[in-house]
Amino acid sequence: MAMSVRDIVVVGVPSLRERACEVAERDLGSAALVALADDLLDTMRAARGAGIAAPQIGVPRRVCAIEVKDNPRYPYKPNIPLTLLVNPVLTPLGDETFDNFEGCLSVPGLRGVVARHVGVRVEAFTPEGERIEREVWGVSAGTYQHECDHLDGVLFLDRVRDTRTLSTWEAFHEHHEAAFAERVRLLVERFGS
Ligand code: NI
Repeated sequence: MAMSVRDIVVVGVPSLRERACEVAERDLGSAALVALADDLLDTMRAARGAGIAAPQIGVPRRVCAIEVKDNPRYPYKPNIPLTLLVNPVLTPLGDETFDNFEGCLSVPGLRGVVARHVGVRVEAFTPEGERIEREVWGVSAGTYQHECDHLDGVLFLDRVRDTRTLSTWEAFHEHHEAAFAERVRLLVERFGS
């Protein structure tokens, strides 16, 4: 199968800030949707991202991909098996949040602290049209929330409450990674993900 790594749309490009359109039910399982999912996957893996959403490759559709497999960019992140979500709807489970240190392929070089729900209920379809219903907890729930935000034109930057937490990758490694890795360890201990 041919690799199809697409260019990543970066912060400042207006299309990244638009709400993406639902995929029509008749398009579930279509060759075009499966090809889009493949492009998301190839682009995410090539960029070593933990997730990517269709607007980030210039496609205004409600589709995103998530995968964490011993990611060197995020050594503290628990693995998440490859997940492709079409028309995802997230519902928070309870009020509890945690401070997540996030980065984004569309915001090169910058990370910051964002409050995310510790649990979300996920309803979506696979590109082939199978229904997905699951609960996701812990750090992985933060990844789902980040990717689904993209479908509404929202970037993690919009949710950073204290802009003093903004950090380059280098400064993150030097000053924040150890404390954050410990927070993640406690979440993984509690939720297993
Ligand atoms: Ni992102």
